[in-house]
Amino acid sequence: MNKGYVALARPDEHRYKQLLLLFLIPLLSLCFIVLKPHHPPPRHAPEILKRCRSLKQIPGPPPNFHRRRESDRFESGTKPVLIKNAKIWTGLNNGTQILDGDILLDKGIIMGVGHFGTALHDNDLAVIDAGGRWVSPGIVDIHSHLGDDPSPTLSGAEDYYSNADTIVPWMRSLDGLNTHDESYALSMSGGVTTSLVLPGSADAIGGQAYIIKLRKTAERSPSSMLLEPPYQINASEPWDASLPPRWRHMKHACGENPSRVHSATRMDTIWAFRQAYNKATQIMKQQDEYCSKIEAGDLKDLGSFPQDLQWEALVDVLRNRVKFGGFSQVNVHCYEAVDLDGLVRLSNEFKFPIAAFHHASETYLTPELLKRAYGKAPAIALFATNSRYKRESYRGSEFAPRILAENGFTSDHPVLDSRHLLYEAQQAHYYGLPDNLALASITSNTAETMGMGHRIGYIRKGWDADLVIWDSHPLALGATPVQVFIDGIPQLDSPYVSFKPPAYQKSPKVPNFDKEVELTLAYDGLPPLKPIKAAEVVIFTNVSNVFVRDSNTVKSIYSTTAGNGRVVVSRNGQLLCTGNQTKCLQDDLGSDVEPVMVDLKGGSIEPALISYGAPLGLEHINQEPSTNDGFVFEPLSQRIPKILGGSIVRAVDGLLFNTRDALYAYRAGVTTGITAPSHYGFSFGLGTAFSTGASHKLESGAVIQEVTALHTSIGFDDTASVSTQIATLRRLLLTPPEGPAGVWFKRVSGGSLTLVVETHSADVIATLLTLKAEIEAAKKSKMQLTISGANEAHLLAEYLGKAEVGVLVFPRPFPATWDRRRIAPGPPLSPNAVQQLMVHNVTVGLMIAEIWEARNLPFDVAWTSLDVNGTLRKEEALALASVNVEKLLCAKVEDRDTDLVARESTGGNSLFDGRVIGVLSPRRGVVELF
Ligand SMILES: *[C@@H]1O[C@H](CO)[C@@H](O)[C@H](O)[C@H]1NC(C)=O
Ligand SMILES: *[C@@H]1O[C@H](CO)[C@@H](O)[C@H](O)[C@H]1NC(C)=O
Ligand SMILES: *[C@@H]1O[C@H](CO)[C@@H](O)[C@H](O)[C@H]1NC(C)=O
Ligand SMILES: *[C@@H]1O[C@H](CO)[C@@H](O)[C@H](O)[C@H]1NC(C)=O
Ligand SMILES: *[C@@H]1O[C@H](CO)[C@@H](O)[C@H](O)[C@H]1NC(C)=O
Ligand SMILES: *[C@@H]1O[C@H](CO)[C@@H](O)[C@H](O)[C@H]1NC(C)=O
Repeated sequence: MNKGYVALARPDEHRYKQLLLLFLIPLLSLCFIVLKPHHPPPRHAPEILKRCRSLKQIPGPPPNFHRRRESDRFESGTKPVLIKNAKIWTGLNNGTQILDGDILLDKGIIMGVGHFGTALHDNDLAVIDAGGRWVSPGIVDIHSHLGDDPSPTLSGAEDYYSNADTIVPWMRSLDGLNTHDESYALSMSGGVTTSLVLPGSADAIGGQAYIIKLRKTAERSPSSMLLEPPYQINASEPWDASLPPRWRHMKHACGENPSRVHSATRMDTIWAFRQAYNKATQIMKQQDEYCSKIEAGDLKDLGSFPQDLQWEALVDVLRNRVKFGGFSQVNVHCYEAVDLDGLVRLSNEFKFPIAAFHHASETYLTPELLKRAYGKAPAIALFATNSRYKRESYRGSEFAPRILAENGFTSDHPVLDSRHLLYEAQQAHYYGLPDNLALASITSNTAETMGMGHRIGYIRKGWDADLVIWDSHPLALGATPVQVFIDGIPQLDSPYVSFKPPAYQKSPKVPNFDKEVELTLAYDGLPPLKPIKAAEVVIFTNVSNVFVRDSNTVKSIYSTTAGNGRVVVSRNGQLLCTGNQTKCLQDDLGSDVEPVMVDLKGGSIEPALISYGAPLGLEHINQEPSTNDGFVFEPLSQRIPKILGGSIVRAVDGLLFNTRDALYAYRAGVTTGITAPSHYGFSFGLGTAFSTGASHKLESGAVIQEVTALHTSIGFDDTASVSTQIATLRRLLLTPPEGPAGVWFKRVSGGSLTLVVETHSADVIATLLTLKAEIEAAKKSKMQLTISGANEAHLLAEYLGKAEVGVLVFPRPFPATWDRRRIAPGPPLSPNAVQQLMVHNVTVGLMIAEIWEARNLPFDVAWTSLDVNGTLRKEEALALASVNVEKLLCAKVEDRDTDLVARESTGGNSLFDGRVIGVLSPRRGVVELF
């Protein structure tokens, strides 16, 4: 399908130069023959001269690119489309231009932006009334492994890196690009239209990256998905040298990843870089000398053009030095100051610019270092809040985007599901990145950094027809495409559009985090997170809403539009009085107390949330065993030491307090963690509930409930079959073993303790429902069963409802493996799983997978409630991550003991508008303020 725009028209000056060469070269050759009869010119001298000239050419589109009338990616038969009545974020003027009007798409190109009225008469024209909705350019993901690391993962498909060596600039991500990745459709449903597919970070120089558009092509091949691929994809000899070359992309990685894979250290890796660049430099010098000679007519002992297929891509990296820019863009996966410094020195030693640092946790701490990179300061491609999973990311900050301002976000798909790249921009905006830059960071900025700003990343006449019509303002949490166009082709067949309150059509108002930013910088990325204990009596003023726990539900005490005159009085974390200011302040608080007044600016008091699913409280840094509790023995695949004597592991014994992720969660209003012992496969352990804000286990209220439910999982152990795991479970429940563990299994089969089974497959869930019935019949009991993970549970919603089996689900499921591939993807592809399960009265709770996600739980709740077409009241939404989770995990907390949070409003209308500024903890007898 890629015709190559260059075929359409050639710049006149090129034709002129070609003509000149046509005459000149034979003339020159003639001179050589006449003057230097002993040194005949190498054969193909004209080609070589052309090639020498081409080495100095700057990559990019030909000058007449924007006069094209048809895209090289146009699929014939695609109808023109007129999108009328749109609110258009064009990406121009630093991301501040917003136009109300129409957009005309034809031949794969944006033919115009403006007001077309009735001027267009074309029977083929499809007219879409956007009804004033927001339209943005398609999202451009600058760091993805889409296709190379396809989902669901199957063992033959790890094609995103090479094991050959740590220096492999000749490898190409294109060669691993699988066209059947489920994620193409999923990511498009999140508005992603273009991705830069990079090799993984296993190698120091991991190879060449390629840009793809995500839509299906008529040819169904990897090559036909490419956007402006370099000519080298199918030619090892140079192409028609009269054409400007196209941008190439190269992946570099430093630090832990290449070290781990190649048993190297940072010192080894940097030397490997220097050796490789030294080699490339030598080849480049030979080429330059060769070219100087042939250009000067000195053909003595010239031989053939010096080149080496293995190193040509790295030589191209260095060719940036010749004239402005260069052939290659280096994308570097580096986190810490030590790595950034090494790469900046390398770029200066060998004189090549760095397009972008990816992940780059510490770039916000070292802006001066970045400025010293060769050429220009690299772009920075970040995650918004995914941090602390390894040493290198321990100092990652949610404020980095705001501090760096000009940057991009990456999904590193499937590390983060690129479907939700927009969410990264939304979070960065929440933490202080201005809205124009937040949107630019996933569209125009990333397009420019890839060298594709001439055709994608903007809504402009002449640019590719890649755009998204959104159901709400793209920076409003939960914004979902109602249609996505790629090359002018609509990608959603019959989109499921969920109801959005009108407030979501505006750019959200965000809290002020100036103080936190200052502390983050002052403390080198590790600001103190412990809250401050407030006075005995705290009076929250201007409170618009009060929600509290009421047995198994959340109820509203009152709700007004303006909190004027409404207060909440708390003593030692207990609620004393809520509502009428005059009345509440009449109450005798004791003459000796000095109350602290806190203005919530129309905000609310609401139940704190509970995190479950990640090993919160059992690890500080996921990839550092010395910082973690570790893993339990696997009974079906490991030998369990006899000395354990049939004990069962309790998570409470491994609890670690003061982990940064727990404290971040606490500050976000997620004050309880319920955690099961960490395991790889099939094993058992008892969960525990703890306070995320406590300093140590002995502090009052630190452990909320020593033992919660009994946990196991089915389908994660790759040594024993699923049926073996079920058989083991059946035996343990029907004939519990003697010894301490047996006691707990008896409680489960007797119905007094919940069994939580983490599993995804609908087939396993169905088997568990029959097992439950079997146990209940044998024991004459009512067994409490909860399924967690449960990607495919929605397929059995009716049966789960009848069996009264509740589920804990991920708010945004992903088909990572085969047994969990049948997800309910949610809008715009389907109703989401929560909605489908609740229709059948299944109790649903939300869960997370990794500890850094705990702080984002309020966003998860709000987003889920937006995906269900207005079927959840705020009380019900809050229950998804509070009372429901407790109920499903056998945590029994008295209403009067449950934590509440104080949320300060920013004047917006969203579910979790503003920020949490305090926790009221009756259990711990305190009000803490941040
Ligand atoms: C090589 O790839 C380019 C796309 O870059 C395409 O236009 C051209 O037709 C291909 N050539 C051959 C011989 O397949
Ligand atoms: C772009 O916008 C940002 C934030 O709104 C502003 O700080 C910056 O100065 C602007 N840049 C230009 C070139 O206008
Ligand atoms: C608050 O209570 C006082 C006296 O108890 C009453 O006069 C006043 O109307 C009440 N205000 C509101 C807003 O209900
Ligand atoms: C309460 O908060 C709202 C919203 O911030 C504000 O408009 C109002 O002035 C506040 N009222 C008082 C009494 O502070
Ligand atoms: C769910 O529960 C409600 C209220 O108890 C009941 O009216 C409804 O029929 C139930 N729905 C299903 C599918 O069981
Ligand atoms: C969403 O709810 C509205 C009514 O509140 C209904 O008209 C609409 O059909 C629902 N949408 C979907 C996709 O179910």
